Amino acid sequence: TYVVLENCIKCKYTDCVEVCPVDCFHEGPNFLVIDPDECIDCTLCEPECPAEAIVPEDDVPEGQEEFIELNAELARTWPVITTRKDPPPDAEEWDGKPDKLKYLER
Ligand code: SF4
Ligand code: F3S
Repeated sequence: TYVVLENCIKCKYTDCVEVCPVDCFHEGPNFLVIDPDECIDCTLCEPECPAEAIVPEDDVPEGQEEFIELNAELARTWPVITTRKDPPPDAEEWDGKPDKLKYLER
């Protein structure tokens, strides 16, 4: 499965959702997650993310392992998103900022 990492938080560009053939992206207030039970490893979303926040499960960087379970957990309750929308106005400022997990809204 593919996993959305920390850098999506407060960037949420949503380019990723348009290419997913099986609609596995779920939307929260300032972050998106992938439902691991739906993802078919098609690879299409990874290059679409301007924040480089999507990787295959095997490539999750050290220190972000908890995002594997977080994607699975939040996908159970957050609604599916299939259409791109405008990112937050300050998305660019947040791109690349460290330690964004504390800003995650549920
Ligand atoms: Fe969807 Fe493919 Fe990305 Fe999985 S790898 S989330 S199936 S676009
Ligand atoms: Fe997030 Fe990148 Fe998608 S910032 S919403 S994973 S395009």
